[in-house]
Amino acid sequence: MKKPEAKIIAVSNQKGGAGKSTVTTNLAVELAHRGYEVLVIDSDAEQQSTMVWSARREQVNESGELPFVQTTHLPAKNLRNVHRLRDKYEYILIDGGARITEEAHAAVAVADYLLVPVKTSELDVESTVQFLKIVSLGMKRNDALQVSILINGMNEQSVLGQTVLEQLEQWEDFKLLKTRLGQYQAFQDAVSSGMGVVELGTRTAVKPGNQVRALCTEIMEMMKK
Ligand SMILES: Nc1ncnc2c1ncn2[C@@H]1O[C@H](COP(=O)(O)OP(=O)(O)OP(=O)(O)O)[C@@H](O)[C@H]1O
Ligand SMILES: [Mg+2]
Repeated sequence: MKKPEAKIIAVSNQKGGAGKSTVTTNLAVELAHRGYEVLVIDSDAEQQSTMVWSARREQVNESGELPFVQTTHLPAKNLRNVHRLRDKYEYILIDGGARITEEAHAAVAVADYLLVPVKTSELDVESTVQFLKIVSLGMKRNDALQVSILINGMNEQSVLGQTVLEQLEQWEDFKLLKTRLGQYQAFQDAVSSGMGVVELGTRTAVKPGNQVRALCTEIMEMMKK
């Protein structure tokens, strides 16, 4: 039977450290656990942190207990050809680099769905608002693109400032996701061990694991529409 065409999800934000690689790898792992064939594309020309994650995953997964997540690096000039891989996977996730680079433009052009993680500091939100303005322009060329904003790294004690929410909710075309990811050490532990938080199996990974599952479900539901 012919496989359905892969959905292409770009995880991007010009702001460095917003959680692009964290979100990409955790979402990819959760999708793989749900039985989907997943390709992760690291398009960050400078850091390639997802490639490092993938190399660690290979090391910890010699026995093949963890589901396989195919990972590759693609420079911006090749990103526009990603749609050619649609019949080989079910989900293709693109981890974008920081700054508005050629990669960000190419990812926005080729994706079905753009996920924009944002941390909640004023500087992070301001920078993200700039990014969303640029995305709006790009959407004129890709009008099927769905865009969601994901609040990442919330402190359990912190009340999200009203101005932050107002700034992020002002966009009719962009949906602020119900699911939010908290600030948890487990996210850092997972990345540095080539895993997803859903695989850590520690007590402290339970909450972030549930958040990643909720995120995955929310995104899959949105993409069906
Ligand atoms: N929800 C979270 N809880 C705890 N730590 C987090 C969380 N999200 C991200 N981090 C940490 O913040 C740092 C930056 O995250 P990450 O590398 O995912 O961001 P990025 O957007 O990919 O950065 P870059 O722009 O450099 O590619 C990392 O050390 C990561 O472990
Ligand atoms: Mg990164």
